[in-house]
Amino acid sequence: MIISANFKSFKNREETRIYLEKLNNLIKNMNSFEITVFPPATALQNKIGSISIGSQNIFPARNGAFTGEICLEQLEEFDIKNVLIGHSERREILNENIEYIAKKFDFAIKNNLKITFCVGESREIRENDETLDFLKSQFNGIDFNYKNLIIAYEPIWAIGSGLTPTMAQIEETLHFLKNYTGKKIIYGGSVKLSNIEDILKLPSCDGVLVGGASLDVNNFAEIIKIAEKI
Ligand code: 13P
Repeated sequence: MIISANFKSFKNREETRIYLEKLNNLIKNMNSFEITVFPPATALQNKIGSISIGSQNIFPARNGAFTGEICLEQLEEFDIKNVLIGHSERREILNENIEYIAKKFDFAIKNNLKITFCVGESREIRENDETLDFLKSQFNGIDFNYKNLIIAYEPIWAIGSGLTPTMAQIEETLHFLKNYTGKKIIYGGSVKLSNIEDILKLPSCDGVLVGGASLDVNNFAEIIKIAEKI
């Protein structure tokens, strides 16, 4: 089971440090889980207890003249081996296209990073019943043979909206993605205490990527505790 938290651009370094210490204490005796926290770039730090730290982004270079970007060298300082690639907020707000995303993917593979690769459709695509074809198109240039790859299915319209697809819709899409990619599939999009159990019980679900509901450490620890009982 994979439980990840994406802080997006919330929390500073000190808040993140305090959060991680507290989370580490709250979940001390739960070792059966793969827990990763993706804080903002300025709050990256080393692994704490069993909690891995991941980067929300990576520019495909070791270092260089790439103003404002985060490269491999900055991740190595904290021994970070986990990266998010293709998050819808980067695709939509930062205009990352498929070719650029594929470059990041290749770079991450060459450097043996663990990749959580995000895909997800807009409401319009869902309503037009084009979801599965659209998701396939988001994998252009992505090599499913890479061992250290997890797919995160995050429907854009469910992110931060409080809305989630029905459990049947989530299962249908996760199931499709599992067959299509052969990889572990996690779900993201308004995951919270009230729906975590139903989501994690879906047969094709290997875990979750939690945004807003991970920001409160007690809340996120509760989510992990519920997950542990499943
Ligand atoms: P929310 O849980 O806030 O909907 O965010 C999901 C997400 O984008 C995680 O990457």
